[in-house]
Amino acid sequence: MQNHRGEWSSKLGFILAASGSAIGLGNIWRYPYIVGKNGGAAFVVIYLLIVVIIGLPYMLGELSLGRSSQKNPVGAIDAIKPGSAWKGVGYLGVLTGLGILSFYGVIAGWTVGYIFKMITGNPGDFAIFISNSVWVILLFAFFIFITAAIVHGGISGGIERWSKILMPVLFVLMIILIIYAVSLPGSGAGLRFYLMPDFSKIDGNVILAALGQAFFSLSLGMGLMITYGSYVPKSEDLFTSAGYIVFFDSLIAFMAGLIIFPALFANGQDPEAGAKLVFVVFPELFMRMPAGTLVGAIFFLLLSVAALTSTISLLEVPVAFLIDEKKVHRKRIVWIIAGIAFLLGLPSALSQGASPFFTNFGLIPQRLADPDFLSQMSFVFGDLSLAIGALLLSIFIGWIWGAKFAASEIEMGSSYFKKFLKLWIFMMRYIIPISIFIILLNLFGIFN
Ligand code: TRP
Repeated sequence: MQNHRGEWSSKLGFILAASGSAIGLGNIWRYPYIVGKNGGAAFVVIYLLIVVIIGLPYMLGELSLGRSSQKNPVGAIDAIKPGSAWKGVGYLGVLTGLGILSFYGVIAGWTVGYIFKMITGNPGDFAIFISNSVWVILLFAFFIFITAAIVHGGISGGIERWSKILMPVLFVLMIILIIYAVSLPGSGAGLRFYLMPDFSKIDGNVILAALGQAFFSLSLGMGLMITYGSYVPKSEDLFTSAGYIVFFDSLIAFMAGLIIFPALFANGQDPEAGAKLVFVVFPELFMRMPAGTLVGAIFFLLLSVAALTSTISLLEVPVAFLIDEKKVHRKRIVWIIAGIAFLLGLPSALSQGASPFFTNFGLIPQRLADPDFLSQMSFVFGDLSLAIGALLLSIFIGWIWGAKFAASEIEMGSSYFKKFLKLWIFMMRYIIPISIFIILLNLFGIFN
């Protein structure tokens, strides 16, 4: 056995860790603003369809490759096709993990800052806060440090136990916030925006945004689920586990929308405000609530914890790669990779007003992403790279390794999967790669 690599202590431990990776800023910060930018309810419908039709079967593909090979993304691919160029897909995943960690850690730092802002009872102006380079960099460094400290100690003990307590608390708190937000006068318009679809708002860019958001939120497309799958014992049921992970992730995102949009419309704010949405709408909501400073501080604390279980998973991918392939020691390599992620994140940290150069970076066309460095990183690593990675990995799993081998790996431990086996193979080989390919073509403007 490969026990020097570590294994999840239980099925629940695995589901919690994988859900912890999936649930994060992507659900509570990114999802609502993407919904707001893409016209509301119609986007939500498309998003949920993509999650079920593409996200869930694709997740099973990554998990099966990981468990079958018991390796990181590079090693897993190399085990199946030794010495081939397919290994590059694994490297892309490792690089993408670093890229996402670099900008994600900056935003996670803001959420930590907001814990203290809520305690003081005066959140102040968001734009001024994020343009303060000293605070932003200190908070970012703090967040990366905590992430590295936990990955340094191995994941199974601390983080599994933490998630078990804190995720349910986040859930209960969000229920309370939904009830409060929906009861505000004027909130009905927000519910209509969020829940009554107007399909005339759907175009190619909206579908790409939904696909990108689905992969980002479910932690797919860069081999994270290969890595986490590699720690799953053979006796476990990957099929129902994936179902739980997808369900929890979508539920938390959906609930975040039920808070944001009613509150936002009740306050007369603009749903298209973009990335700052959560940091502006939530504090205003808390300032109006009874005991709002306390509720607000707890909310941002839990959001930070949700972000932490995600940054841990992002750091774990490059770390697992180096441990497996270069036989380095976990304890040392963690700090080196974390240091690299920190340096890579500095331009993002400075791109919200502190440095005019990084604020107006604009290498990627405006049509695709805002000009600030952080938004550009988010587009390149959080959308584009995940879509390309998922396209190549689905071809690799469906055709090169062979969907039949993947399916028999999933079947081990899951008798229920038999009923879906043929359908799954069809999805993996045709529907998933073809839809991602079409969406990518559209991104490069082939259709207009
Ligand atoms: N899914 C996380 C979120 O929604 C972010 C994340 C963590 C991620 N690990 C990932 C995204 C791996 C893509 C791939 O906040």
